[in-house]
Amino acid sequence: MYARLCSWSLAFWGLLSPVFPRSIKFPRLGITRGCGHTLAPMNDAIKPAPDNPPQAAGLPQLSVVVPTFNERDNVTVLYRRLDATLKGIPWEVVFVDDNSPDGTWEVVRGLARQDSRVRCIRRIGRRGLSGACIEGILAASAPYAAVIDADLQHDETQLPKMVGLLQGGEAELVIGSRYIEGGSADSFDKGRAGVSVLATEVAKRVLSVKIADPMSGFFMIRRDRFEQLAPQLSTQGFKILLDIVATAQGKLRTIEVPFSFGSRQHGESKLDSMVALDFLGLVLAKLTGDVVSLRFLLFAMVGSIGLVVHLTALFIALELFNAPFPEAQAVGAVVAMTSNFILNNFLTYRDQRLKGFAILRGLLLFYLVCSVGLFANVGVAFSVYDQEPIWWLAGAAGALMGVVWNYAMSGLFVWRKR
Ligand code: GDD
Ligand code: MN
Repeated sequence: MYARLCSWSLAFWGLLSPVFPRSIKFPRLGITRGCGHTLAPMNDAIKPAPDNPPQAAGLPQLSVVVPTFNERDNVTVLYRRLDATLKGIPWEVVFVDDNSPDGTWEVVRGLARQDSRVRCIRRIGRRGLSGACIEGILAASAPYAAVIDADLQHDETQLPKMVGLLQGGEAELVIGSRYIEGGSADSFDKGRAGVSVLATEVAKRVLSVKIADPMSGFFMIRRDRFEQLAPQLSTQGFKILLDIVATAQGKLRTIEVPFSFGSRQHGESKLDSMVALDFLGLVLAKLTGDVVSLRFLLFAMVGSIGLVVHLTALFIALELFNAPFPEAQAVGAVVAMTSNFILNNFLTYRDQRLKGFAILRGLLLFYLVCSVGLFANVGVAFSVYDQEPIWWLAGAAGALMGVVWNYAMSGLFVWRKR
């Protein structure tokens, strides 16, 4: 009996873990094994590296990380500008490309074959500016890492000054800022400027961030400080700097340097109206101390919309088509599951959106997942009602079980990470 209880509770935590992604940490059991290996003679695998390896002089001081998506015509120009501006500083550049259809990664690969300071990370089956920046910085090894857009809207001539501030120990994070004296975002149209100012105000007030431009995509950070924060950062969305600053909770010594946000030369912006959703999700996640992930919030929100869709379809089937109740209820369920699937594919799993034939396969799997979820829902509601006949408590417990199940299983089977 005890064993069964244990396995049930383990399974339940397993189910919950994608909902509570990082913050709930269970203390490890304090059982330690003997540490005999420390007595063994030191083998090559664990010998520390020499303090001053002979090639140290040629190692990069600065790793420039450039996220790219369809920037074919911009990357070579950026590379040349970096080469021109970073004379005297050993540097490398890591382009992180999400398998751009325009073949940006091919152009970068070409540059890398001529200059070993250039590297290309080509990610397949993934999208997202924040995730790309995180992977790029983690793939770098210089003491300082900069993030800069590929489209030449950021001012790369600020980089030497930024390195200087980090090297001098005055700061651990240097931000290229549009909203301090000397900076500007004149290239923004009225609409975008308004949204940018509003989001900046919300971030400052709600998350008590004391920085003029937490939405900037141009910054430089000490890599060791970044490595400490990295496990808590969200790979979804595009506000990586805001995430870094909010996660560090004021513990990163920060300096802002002004720059003018230029206009794009080639290609177009990837930020659509959906980024507002990502922004909201990040603010919520940081407010709740990362207890609930944005994805789960979106999934639950889509589920609530599904309830309305269900009732509407049920009503139409009953009233307009005079269908018998069981059939009408079944129609309502199928319509709701289908609309949930479509909304989740567009919103919740935007970065892993299923396309083409995969949509049909995903939809069928989603039906299957939700059907089992319904059993779990009813089962839990029944057993709660059995012990405590309070209808709303039993109903809510069942619904919670259902949504957690659907969420966990959808992530595993329908929109699984590659
Ligand atoms: N790897 C990868 N994956 N790169 C991406 C993705 C993605 O999904 N989406 C965008 N990028 C790259 C672009 O190729 C570009 O180099 C950079 O990220 C910025 O994207 P843009 O599409 O040019 O964004 P923007 O100019 O509208 O927004 C910029 O300004 C904002 C401030 O208003 C960015 O710097 C934002 O981070 C910044 O908040
Ligand atoms: Mn841009």
